[in-house]
Amino acid sequence: MLNWIPRYSSVLDIINTKGMTDSLILELGSGSHGLGCCFDKPFVGLDTEFPDPISPNMIPILASIDHVPFSDDSFDLVVSLDMLEHIPADKRLSVIQQMLRVSSRFVIIGFPCGEIAEQAERHLASWFERDGGNAPPWLQEHLQNGLPSSQEVEEYLDTIPNMRHEVFGNENVAFHIMVVIADHIDISRDYSEASLVDNRDDWIELCKKANFSPVYRSIYLIEKLESNETEKIERTTSGVYKTLVCPRCRAELTIDDPANELTCLGCSSKYCFTEDHIPDMRCR
Ligand SMILES: C[S@@+](CC[C@H](N)C(=O)[O-])C[C@H]1O[C@@H](n2cnc3c(N)ncnc32)[C@H](O)[C@@H]1O
Ligand SMILES: [Zn+2]
Repeated sequence: MLNWIPRYSSVLDIINTKGMTDSLILELGSGSHGLGCCFDKPFVGLDTEFPDPISPNMIPILASIDHVPFSDDSFDLVVSLDMLEHIPADKRLSVIQQMLRVSSRFVIIGFPCGEIAEQAERHLASWFERDGGNAPPWLQEHLQNGLPSSQEVEEYLDTIPNMRHEVFGNENVAFHIMVVIADHIDISRDYSEASLVDNRDDWIELCKKANFSPVYRSIYLIEKLESNETEKIERTTSGVYKTLVCPRCRAELTIDDPANELTCLGCSSKYCFTEDHIPDMRCR
């Protein structure tokens, strides 16, 4: 979908600038596509559901951001785009804490914020609702939860020692409205989807130019100044599975064959693989 490219192209830019293309990357709230819409190297994607075909370079893990099944400092880079606004407002700072916990060095968090984004969403919702239609579920959720406040995020980040952050304005608000509507209209969606297959890099370059004010989204690049290097996880499916820990107590897991169940050596909780062989680490 075209509307993914403005945010992911900026993350791609940061990954390239910081020399992180061969790093171990975890994306939280990736959805089925995640970074895979702009980036071709392997990465781990975590979400509570994967309703669509999964990007071929994503190693998917079913879990919730409340209970991330990895030890502290496991990844070089943790990315999360447009997820924070789907988390209830009183849980957002603890979610950022989880992102910081599992990264040894960089965290990139992007979310829509500010008066202009709120205003644009109200206008977009009324556009979708004209003639008795419905706003898409993601937009309804933004309006119900309220957008995250950049002031609150900044104040929180300022309380954490040995970290620095930069903020990038992302996606001009008019451009945002155009691509969301373009994805909603069959004729433009069909053309852009075909064109994204053939000319993805051109779309990426175009979207990178659309980051002028007023912007819809802020992207935070947070860097831990004392990086806690840990043993490197192999960037393969089996390498990542070997490093999963219990999302409840973070103890080691054993994979029981032939049942293909994961059992926690600490609290004895059991987790399974889905029919598509995705580890299901959701705590029910
Ligand atoms: C608007 S989508 C964004 C998807 C993708 N990151 C993007 O930018 O296109 C929000 C995603 O957050 C996921 N999400 C919401 N709550 C979550 C939670 N508690 N744990 C993990 N993922 C969650 C949703 O399932 C959904 O895939
Ligand atoms: Zn456990």
